[in-house]
Parts: sequence; C-alpha cells; structure tokens
Amino acid sequence: MSTTDLKLEAKAKLTLEDKEYELPVVKGSESEVGIDITKLRNISGAITLDSGYANTGSCQSAITFIDGERGILRYRGYPIEELAEKSNFIEVAYLLIYGFLPTKAQLDDFHYKLTHHSLLHEDMKKFFEGFPPTAHPMGILSAMVSSLSAFYPEAGYNADIELNIIRLIAKLNTIAAFSYKKSIGQPYVYPQNHLSYAADFLHMMFSVPTEPYEVPKALEDALDLLLILHADHEQNCSTSTVRMVGSSEANLFASISAGICALWGPLHGGANQQVITMLQKIQDDGGDYKKYVNLAKDKESKFKLMGFGHRVYKNFDPRARILKHAADRVLSELGIKDPMLDIAKNLEDIALKDDFFVERKLYPNVDFYSGIIYRAMGIPTNMFTVMFALGRLPGWIAQWKEMRETPGVRIYRPRQIFIGETQRSYVPISKR
Ligand code: SDX
Repeated sequence: MSTTDLKLEAKAKLTLEDKEYELPVVKGSESEVGIDITKLRNISGAITLDSGYANTGSCQSAITFIDGERGILRYRGYPIEELAEKSNFIEVAYLLIYGFLPTKAQLDDFHYKLTHHSLLHEDMKKFFEGFPPTAHPMGILSAMVSSLSAFYPEAGYNADIELNIIRLIAKLNTIAAFSYKKSIGQPYVYPQNHLSYAADFLHMMFSVPTEPYEVPKALEDALDLLLILHADHEQNCSTSTVRMVGSSEANLFASISAGICALWGPLHGGANQQVITMLQKIQDDGGDYKKYVNLAKDKESKFKLMGFGHRVYKNFDPRARILKHAADRVLSELGIKDPMLDIAKNLEDIALKDDFFVERKLYPNVDFYSGIIYRAMGIPTNMFTVMFALGRLPGWIAQWKEMRETPGVRIYRPRQIFIGETQRSYVPISKR
C-alpha cells in the first residue's frame, strides 16, 4: 500500500485563533486513522506537542501490527500465536526483513550464510579483554556492534546491505555468548555450523573445553520461541531509536548499537532483568507478594511492578500469555520447581482483580515471564536484556531497511516548545 493510497477524502478540521485549517487524513490497512500534520506548521505556524509520542505516528510501516485493545500482534500479517507454534526464529527473521515466508531453498540459503558468518574477526577478541569482568553485557554488546563498522566500513544502505545484515545477525549471537564467557573468565567457545541459531548460542554459552555441552532440545526450542516472541514490536523505544539514527544515513551497525542502548533501560528491555530482581526481593521477603502489590499502588513508594503495564497493550500482551504457558512447560520438562514462578502467577492473579491495575489497564507484558525461562536455562540475570536484543535484532534491521527504502524519507528532527528565558543581555562578571 503506497502512502498516496492512504489519503482519505475526509479531512480533519482544526480551528486555531479563529482560523480554520483542513488537514489530510490517512487510513491504514487495519483501518487506523491518522491526521497528517506534515504541513501543519507551514499553514498555521503551530506545531503539536505529544510527550512520549503516545499519540504520534512517526512513519507508515508494513512490518508489524499491534492492536493493544484486542491483544493482537502480527508479523507481516501472520499472528504471533501461529508463528510461535509453527515457525522458527531464522524463518521469522527472514519474514520480518524481506516481507514474505521463504521457500525451503531461500531459508536453507539464509541459514547457510548465517552459519558461515558467525565467526568474529580475531582482533575483535582484544576488545573483550579491555572490559572489566563486572562490565554489563549490554554495554559490551553495544560497543562490539558499533565496532563492527571498523571491520566492515561499508555498512551504509547503499553498500552490500544484504551481506551486512547476515554478518550482524550471525555475529551478534557470538558476541553475546563471548561477553558471557568473558564475564566468568572462561575461554570462548566458537560457533558450530551444524547447530541451529538457538542451539549454537546455548552451546557457546555453556560448553567448556573440558566437557562438551549437549544442548537439551527443550532448551533449544524454548530459546527459539523466546527469540520469535521478541523479534519485532512496531515503533517501540529502541526501534524508534534505530530509525532515528538511521534517518541521518548512519550505517547499520551504528544504528543497531544505538537501539541496544535504548533497549537497556529498565522501563524497556531492561525490565526483564528487573522482574527477576523484584521476584527475588519478594521471595527473600517471605514471598509476601500482596505487600508489593500495595507498594505499587502507593505513588510515594516509587515502586513499580516490573513486567507490568504497556503503552500499547491495554489488554493482555499475547507474548506474555504464550510465555506463561511456556514457563510451566519448560520448568516441568526440566523438573525444576522455581518458587519465583508461583510468586509471578500470584502477582498476576491479585493485580488483575485490583481496581488500581484494572483502571490503568496494567497487564503482564513480555518481560514478566521471560526471565523465569532464562533462569531455567542457566542464563544469568544480567544477560536477560542481551537475550531480548538477540531476539529484537531482525525487527530492528527490518524497520531500518524499510525506513531507508521509503521514498522521500527525511532525517528525524522533531520541533519543541521553548520555555526558557527570553532574550537578555550579557552582564560581565564584575557586575553580577
Ligand atoms: C517493553 O513499546 C513496546 O512495545 C515495548 C516492548 C517491546 O516489545 O518493545 O513491549 C517491551 O518495553 C515492555 C515494557 C517493559 N517495562 C516494564 O515492565 C516496566 C514497568 N512498566 C511501566 O514502567 C510502564 O507500564 C511502561 C513504561 C511499560 C509504559 O509506560 P506509559 O505508557 O508511559 O504508562 P505510565 O507510566 O504513564 O503509566 C500509566 C499509569 C500511571 O499511574 P497514574 O499516573 O495514571 O496514576 O499506570 C501506572 C503509572 O504510575 N503504572 C504502573 C506500572 N506501569 C504503569 N504502576 C505500577 N506498576 C507498573 N508497572
């Protein structure tokens, strides 16, 4: 659907200081209506103001559709429930980036290329040596991705973008696992071409030279599911950051490195790490989850139920629903009894009946149950947001590519309403 197809006959009318202005209206393929304010300042001199961009569309996109009221999430039209049940992460990555489900030959070729670009340049290992063992893996991940532009300088859209997309997806897996090995002082384990993307990551994470690690199928499948569920989510904070940086024609690696930093924040991808910290605190406090629900309702406490709430979902987050069942399944398959899962379920049960959460339409989001599964895999808490970044990478790439391929795309440069001092003259220090 081209942008011109979107324009509706209907117009929006704005009255400002007794003048009336007409603005075009656009309607998307899911009947979302947007008032096109591209010319607003030219015709009226006014701009709009929208803190947190909650009411502002930054682009038109064909990649991911979310209906927050109905708890719908679709990648290129395919419901997340179907992809989670029937697809795999590499196929979903291909779908997001290229817009269609690949044939077997296309998927085999994509997978072959990924396995044959998973090695890092040996000089990149020296960068890991410079980080202290306590370095947060998200800081390492962002730095290492940005440094890829030193080894592959031609990473702009007009360069060999297909090869750099392959390099980035293939190498992020290795960089993530190497950052873990670095943090525990173990030797790096190199990628193995015969393993799936998920199995290769777990093998690089947990194999040691003295004892090879056989990746349990239950964990390989669970990780593949987690990566699918995190793969894209329309114009969230980190994806908007990737688009923002890419709009200046910065290269792919620089754009993704910026997205990793945005994801790190505890209100965004960093929430999955905060959820486990919160559940551990409740568990250490005798499991009194009701106390923490009451704390979350008390503004003075500044306490939030991490993993709860969402800017778009005002009903359940379909990913959280899938992950809740997956957590039950994985823990029982592994014979693990994690009291944190019971605390999480009790928190969800009590919050969903409490007026404070019901009125604010606060439901568990994707971060609420994911950490329980990562823990069952033996992945340390400070690696949880790295896992989110691994999953989100194809979505970031797809959104960056769509933005760069959009005719007439302009550098992102919002305006502001100035509230500072009006003009005043300089006073020399001797007279202050
Ligand atoms: C992700 O955008 C995406 O799609 C993100 C994501 C993706 O896939 O990319 O889905 C991934 O980031 C999920 C969100 C992970 N973050 C958390 O779990 C952190 C806890 N959640 C909140 O910080 C909050 O809900 C946000 C950040 C997720 C959404 O923030 P909004 O939309 O700005 O909502 P808000 O902060 O204005 O909250 C509205 C009200 C407020 O109360 P009032 O001022 O109306 O009285 O709800 C309250 C908030 O205080 N509230 C919470 C709460 N979240 C919101 N109260 C207690 N606990 C919470 N978790």
